[in-house]
Amino acid sequence: MGRANKVVLAYSGGVDTSVCIPYLKEEWGVQEVITLAADLGQGDELEPIREKALKSGASESLVVDAKESFVKDYAFPALQANALYENRYPLSTALARPLIAKLLVVAAEQYGADAVAHGCTGKGNDQVRFDVSIAALNPNLKVLAPAREWGMSREETIAYGERFGIASPVKKSSAYSIDRNLLGRSIEAGPLEEPWTEPLEEVYLMTKAIADTPNEPEYVEISFERGIPTALNGESMAPLALISQLNQLAGAHGIGRIDMIENRLVGIKSREIYETPALWVLIQAHRDLESLTLTADVSHYKRGIEETYSQLIYNGLWYSPLKGALDAFIKQTQERVSGTVRVKLFKGNVYTVGRKSDNSLYSPDLATYGAEDQFDHKAAEGFIYVWGLPTRVWSQKTSH
Ligand code: ARG
Repeated sequence: MGRANKVVLAYSGGVDTSVCIPYLKEEWGVQEVITLAADLGQGDELEPIREKALKSGASESLVVDAKESFVKDYAFPALQANALYENRYPLSTALARPLIAKLLVVAAEQYGADAVAHGCTGKGNDQVRFDVSIAALNPNLKVLAPAREWGMSREETIAYGERFGIASPVKKSSAYSIDRNLLGRSIEAGPLEEPWTEPLEEVYLMTKAIADTPNEPEYVEISFERGIPTALNGESMAPLALISQLNQLAGAHGIGRIDMIENRLVGIKSREIYETPALWVLIQAHRDLESLTLTADVSHYKRGIEETYSQLIYNGLWYSPLKGALDAFIKQTQERVSGTVRVKLFKGNVYTVGRKSDNSLYSPDLATYGAEDQFDHKAAEGFIYVWGLPTRVWSQKTSH
């Protein structure tokens, strides 16, 4: 009796996940492997991937287009939370994992599988995100992670695959480890493992080098309804189209490159390069619209929530009760976050240059320094007396 009978395996078409198929069957006694490739806009052709799984020994090869759900159910809630891990990483890879986990669980239930599997190694965050998300969605399913246990080097993995007719990669495999989807690219390893080394231009695909960006700025108006982007330059757009168009616009100006040393959940510091053009611009624009439409206390309180929320996503707790509770808070704050932000894209930067909203809390009569000023200046005196009273008392009691 093997570790499981029927397994649904998260499949990318790469060597590692392909080798997982014969490995699960031969070494772990699995009877039947069903693969599932999720289309999250990674730009791969999916039909060859579907066929490769079958050639590698899968009994069934599923391909699921999940792009729309990825944007609506994962990216947009994160945007409403202005989610940035360690203040910088827009979580483009992290957000994909709970969605893939969900697809695996749904397929496992549909096909009567007793386990799901993935090709993650034991060093990264992604294994945690998969395992914990799967446990949250269906605690009765086993999770198998062959690459966490097989201890094969790259060469050994390729050789193992060849024994089962899995062609070794045609092109010399890249020195980098790359994860990609419609929100962005994550690039690590190879020369990037030395934190002092500047990334070569070759690592970037979605963003132009500053030297090659236009010498004229480009203005874009981004409209939001309840914290969700709905139009570019006044033209209503579906979520997917909006993200891909904004990726183009911002990428052309070299916006959204991030080079950081980050703290993984498993305790390792790693150097990662990200390019997330659209998300980078959207977070900035969304924040600016919140500045206009949220009261000061909600806005300030939300910043703490955003930090926790970003950590939850990074740490694989998308389907956790705390995440659900914070979602309710964030949703409530977005009720009035509707309006338009005007940004200027130029030489790797996004500048907010204008914002407007029917729900604006900005009051020209109060803010103006002109004759129309409605603010009661004399009232400030009494306010300051009370506000400063504790400080005054403290100072009088303290020897200087
Ligand atoms: N460090 C990022 C995260 O944990 C990306 C992980 C995948 N990166 C990669 N280059 N394969 O979300």
